[in-house]
Amino acid sequence: LSMIILKSKREIEYIREAGRITANALQLMKKLAKPGITTGELDQRCEEYIRSCGAFPSCKGYYGFPATICASVNEEVVHGIPGHRKLKDGDIISIDLVVNKNGYHGDSTVTIPVGHVHPATLKLLKVTEESLYKGIEQAVAGNHLGDIGHAVQSYAESFGYGVVRDYVGHGIGTDMHEDPEVPNYGMAGHGELLEPGMVLAIEPMINMGTEKIRQLKNGWTVVTRDGKPAAHFEHTVAITENGPEILTLPEE
Ligand code: MF3
Ligand code: CO
Repeated sequence: LSMIILKSKREIEYIREAGRITANALQLMKKLAKPGITTGELDQRCEEYIRSCGAFPSCKGYYGFPATICASVNEEVVHGIPGHRKLKDGDIISIDLVVNKNGYHGDSTVTIPVGHVHPATLKLLKVTEESLYKGIEQAVAGNHLGDIGHAVQSYAESFGYGVVRDYVGHGIGTDMHEDPEVPNYGMAGHGELLEPGMVLAIEPMINMGTEKIRQLKNGWTVVTRDGKPAAHFEHTVAITENGPEILTLPEE
């Protein structure tokens, strides 16, 4: 049974406040993600920034996750643990960040190219981000959940990429993970009816090769089975009477 919690306008503003801090922190990560920096240093800078905003890292301690950001490099899809690994020219890094401000969460992810990245990999990043926007366009009252997944999937697969099935987006609010699950695949017109007040984290994870993944023995890091690169983009989005509103935007 799905228990979707609808949010008031005031609650959506709280989520937007958390989401703005999330987005500003990711802008900082884009500036810092250069060859030579470690993923652990990025994590530390991110945590300092969000605490300076009076906010908290939602992932730290979540089922024992040890860090503020998930830092997933190259063939790592999601849930990479920050540490001593130094970024090098040609890497890509997905930084997934959830921020808690005043009890409300904002969740966003970007995949950042480090230095000079192979054009085929840059294409994967571009298409993955575009697939997120295809999904967001469908986050409209009167549509169904399957419209979002269908839009993401059909776009990404038209480039021959693999759409990860084992991890999905989610509702978000006073909990980081709420109902409903938001798959990046599906059938148009199927699934839960979308209504104003729903807030969804839409987060396509798109692989250059196979959609198949496996988890490393550390119990967290998820990698592609074929070792080819993966990209991940995410926004927290409110469904309103006036269409989809992205809540994880930086301040101008
Ligand atoms: N943004 C991730 C998600 O939506 C959060 C992972 S936090 C972790 O699932 F603690 F589980 F790593
Ligand atoms: Co998420």
